[in-house]
Amino acid sequence: MILTDDERRMRDGADGPAVAAAMDLLIRYAAALDAERLCTVRNVAGTTTQPSPLKARLVAEGGWDRAFSVINLDADETLPIPPMAVPTCQLQQGFGPDSVDVVPYPADFVALQSDAEVFYGGRGVSVLATCTPYQVGNLPVRGEHCAWMESSAVVYANAVLGARTNCEGTASTGAASLTGRVPCWGNHHDEHRRGTHLVRVDTPVATFLDWGLLGYFTGDAVQEARPVVTGDHALPDLTDLKHFGAAAASSGGVEMYHIPGVTPEAPTTEAAFGGARVPEPLVYGAAERRAMYERLNDQGDSPDVDFVLLGCPHASLDQIRDAARALDGRRLHAGTELWIMAPRALAAVAERSGYTAVIERAGGRVLTDSCPAMSRAAPEGTRVFATDSAKQAHYLPAILGIEAWFGSTAECVDAAVTGRWRGELR
Ligand code: F3S
Repeated sequence: MILTDDERRMRDGADGPAVAAAMDLLIRYAAALDAERLCTVRNVAGTTTQPSPLKARLVAEGGWDRAFSVINLDADETLPIPPMAVPTCQLQQGFGPDSVDVVPYPADFVALQSDAEVFYGGRGVSVLATCTPYQVGNLPVRGEHCAWMESSAVVYANAVLGARTNCEGTASTGAASLTGRVPCWGNHHDEHRRGTHLVRVDTPVATFLDWGLLGYFTGDAVQEARPVVTGDHALPDLTDLKHFGAAAASSGGVEMYHIPGVTPEAPTTEAAFGGARVPEPLVYGAAERRAMYERLNDQGDSPDVDFVLLGCPHASLDQIRDAARALDGRRLHAGTELWIMAPRALAAVAERSGYTAVIERAGGRVLTDSCPAMSRAAPEGTRVFATDSAKQAHYLPAILGIEAWFGSTAECVDAAVTGRWRGELR
């Protein structure tokens, strides 16, 4: 494997034992992947602050140095952790102290996380606390090599921003934070970014719900490959692409896609395939659309909805504003709760803009930092939930053992107000 002088120096301990352990981890990881060298990265999105029973035990044994050494550096001994070498942000985490009256989430986890924020903030980790760092200031440029976790963020970074990252893990992002390196393989290389499958859209795709259904179909059809989506679709916005990518990364493992004329590495269909032969299309028509809708709704039985969840991936400002408009002057059903998950930075803007007041007057809440799937936390006694997110409908029933309904944002708001699911595919 080719190492630069700087990388050898780090490996040999010139920057301290934690950096040496990080470089050792990356070299072993790169060897396992057959990567010939490491990429220089200046943007890491990882997870250090999120509470877990293992983290609590390690902190009790030897503080946050020990927790980071074991969990993020795969080290046996406790190493003193220096400041992060490159800009690093925390993705989604657990719920914070301002959620304790709303979310049934363990108090010891809330305290552990607050402690973690002090430790990691002091070492240069920006606590964005969202699965959508690209919405709140972490916006890598086209071609920039990154080390990101979180499947919905990774596919957005690659496909929509044209940045380059694989779906990294807790250890590789920890090591990347201290070294500014990550194994150079997969999505870092041009040849692994080109399209592999053509998806032809034969039924109109225009709404937020449509983009989720198309993403769910696409991930299921291509699994971990790289689809090129063409045909009868409108121009998507940030929110549509956020939903499309998250859905494709849930039913499959899509990390990169192209929409010719929309995403930056696909000015044309031919360019998306890098000049290779364009394959026969996988067709997404009315029947495929209905099949995806029915699959996402086959975990719903009772029409009595206890809980409505919006904002997965974390809501954009437009989504919060639209929910406020839909709830204005209305009141949630007595037995139904509504949570909108959002990045904390956008929640501050929503509050300042008056959206949160409208949502709270109706009985709903704008919550930050986490989500029910990540923190395994929903309103007490939830048996049936409704969501406008294909990703949350895919995961939450298995995580919490509850029923799910999937539909449009308006149908979810209707369920929150009436306590009944009345959605249907239009
Ligand atoms: Fe984000 Fe939770 Fe969905 S972390 S992508 S809101 S499952």
